[in-house]
Amino acid sequence: MNDHTPSQSSPGYVGAIAPHGGTLINRLLRGDMAEAAREMALGLKAIILSPMNVSDVELIATGALSPLTGFMGPADYHSVVYDMHLVNGLPWTIPITLPVDEETANEIKTGQSVALAEPAPDGNTHLMGVLEVSDKYTYYKNIEAELVYRTTEDKHPGVARLYRQGNVLLAGDIWLFDLPLAAKTEFPELRHTPAQTRRLFARAGWRRIVGFQTRNPIHRAHEYIQKTALEIVDGLFLHPLVGETKEDDIPADVRIESYQAILRDYYPPDRVLLGVFPAAMRYAGPREAIFHAIARKNYGCTHFIVGRDHAGVKGYYGSFDAHYIFDEFDKEAIGIIPLFFDNTFYCRKCGGIVSAKTCPHDESEHVTLSGTQVREMLERGEMLPEEFTRPEVSQVLIEGMKRKKNAKTG
Ligand code: ADX
Repeated sequence: MNDHTPSQSSPGYVGAIAPHGGTLINRLLRGDMAEAAREMALGLKAIILSPMNVSDVELIATGALSPLTGFMGPADYHSVVYDMHLVNGLPWTIPITLPVDEETANEIKTGQSVALAEPAPDGNTHLMGVLEVSDKYTYYKNIEAELVYRTTEDKHPGVARLYRQGNVLLAGDIWLFDLPLAAKTEFPELRHTPAQTRRLFARAGWRRIVGFQTRNPIHRAHEYIQKTALEIVDGLFLHPLVGETKEDDIPADVRIESYQAILRDYYPPDRVLLGVFPAAMRYAGPREAIFHAIARKNYGCTHFIVGRDHAGVKGYYGSFDAHYIFDEFDKEAIGIIPLFFDNTFYCRKCGGIVSAKTCPHDESEHVTLSGTQVREMLERGEMLPEEFTRPEVSQVLIEGMKRKKNAKTG
């Protein structure tokens, strides 16, 4: 494991590590500037964003996707899809694009500004900002699917979303005068921006911070790899993703509750920060692992956990493809240090959580459950084995499943 401490503070950002590209981007207008932009947006054609693009504009505006200042144009798009780098040479693995249908695209001219909006619960639209359209271009969805997701099958949820989206991409810089509604209604107290987490880490005196991405409730294997990583750094940043996930993933509010249920009793409060990552899941496995790591670097993390099948789905990726992809990049250019973990589980013979790397025993001694088994047990209201998940978490999950079921049946 490479164990050097990345560079110290330099002008423009707080913290132990430089943002990707060296500057922490801020595209959120305030005060008079925000009001002027809002006035202007009222007179512009509005584009209603998909849930994923709503997440993207929040991430761009707050600097989580530094150095991006907007949606990618054709040069960056092609460079990212084919070569996993931006045109300026920085590693970047996931295209950040704004797809619209052809009819909408025909109504927009390059050089024009459009308003960025999202549907509001009252049936109206909520205006968030402005996009200065620098380009509009077509693209090949099957090529993006093959290169970014490594499959063209529409059974893959990320590919299915790609196939559903519009055929024309709008590019250009964005300015927001208002964050998405979710920023005020969903976990506002945990929605720390990169500038905020950098200040929080500095205030805590942490110089080496490990970030943890997750889209699942916490279980013992997670806890094991988080605490193992914490042994060699100063602070742990738990950063569950709360943007759009696939239908059968556990809802974000239940997942966050599962964290809150055990943080107080099992984690040292002066060494752990819980925040939420407002991104949508792509399920792009290895490429998304790089993307997740770079975003966490922008939040000020110096290290990032990559375990088994990171951001994977339905067996589309090899268990450790998300480790191997890091070898394809210059370490200095990635900047954040990946901490790789093997498959971890409870072993009855060892009497604790171990990994394929540390346990000598036969599989029959291991307590492992598939996602489907977990879901089925929770739906029946059964507690999960204590070796798999702490009882406090099982309780939260059973209640959460009940709420979800009741909400569905009305
Ligand atoms: S992910 O889509 O966000 O990667 P998940 O929440 O399941 O999914 O995983 C969060 C992190 O923990 C990822 O880095 C993943 O590789 C790792 N992880 C999850 N379960 C295990 C496990 N049993 N062994 C090793 N790593 C794991």
